[in-house]
Amino acid sequence: GVIRVFAPATVANVVCGFDVLGFAVNEPGDEVEMRLTDTPGVVIKRITGDNGKLPLDAAKNTVSASVQHYLHHVNRLDVGVEIELHKKMPIGSGLGSSSASTVAGLFAINKLMGDLLTPKELVPFAMKGEELACGYGHADNVAPAILGGFVLVRSYEPLDVISLPTPAGMYAAIVYPEVDVPTKDARQMIRSKVFLKDAVTQWGNVAGLVSGLFMNDFDLIGRSMKDVLVEPTRSILIPGFEDMRTIAMENGAIGFGISGSGPSVFALAKDEETAKRITKAQQQLLHKLNINSKAYVSSV
Ligand code: HSE
Repeated sequence: GVIRVFAPATVANVVCGFDVLGFAVNEPGDEVEMRLTDTPGVVIKRITGDNGKLPLDAAKNTVSASVQHYLHHVNRLDVGVEIELHKKMPIGSGLGSSSASTVAGLFAINKLMGDLLTPKELVPFAMKGEELACGYGHADNVAPAILGGFVLVRSYEPLDVISLPTPAGMYAAIVYPEVDVPTKDARQMIRSKVFLKDAVTQWGNVAGLVSGLFMNDFDLIGRSMKDVLVEPTRSILIPGFEDMRTIAMENGAIGFGISGSGPSVFALAKDEETAKRITKAQQQLLHKLNINSKAYVSSV
């Protein structure tokens, strides 16, 4: 059989929920084409759209490595798999690029094997891909890429992934300033010790954001989109960050912050028109700073 699968970009952290919150958007995303063959083993046949950045070595590529891991788990190392990866989204953008590829691959192999695992059961295999990509198997991109919508990673050990409701009509306004911020580096720069006072602020906001999603309360969601632990350090790497925040809030955003480990930023908005207005004004600012950018507006 042959199958072609799309998996979406994701916004991890959602400002206050470092490593525990994320949501999926409709686009951009990546596509994987997968074919079963008679020769046991997983091979990457072709990658398009990556400008030669991604490894073709099956042990190093997150897609093939996680598919291999899956086949090992379901005891089907006799299976031969050929993979074509079509990158349709920027790498190192903070939009869960590696996660989109990995998830598309896992979804494809699971379908070809007759849905041996549930989508939720695919999450740990996708986390292996993240570990390969950035040194740590965080789930806040892969879980929403697999399950859609907003997702909470309540616990890593044991893994406990919860789908959250998404208020109707909510839009994400995403801008990707084309500067390089590798997730690995962006993780290393964060302090690993925090003050209790800051922790209190942070968990108050996480609980507030989750409550806001359940209550359809945009105002509560907005008040909760604050990050005292990670954003102050990481935002330094993002050109025009504070000005982009001002632009977002002045144009009616619910809240604003870094997408994943950056450099992309995102705002939540109550309708598509507001989201488009925000990205347009932010791109104008980046243009003035001589920085190329891409924008994506998507319902959440
Ligand atoms: N939670 C991860 C981080 C997401 O912030 O490093 C990376 O996209």
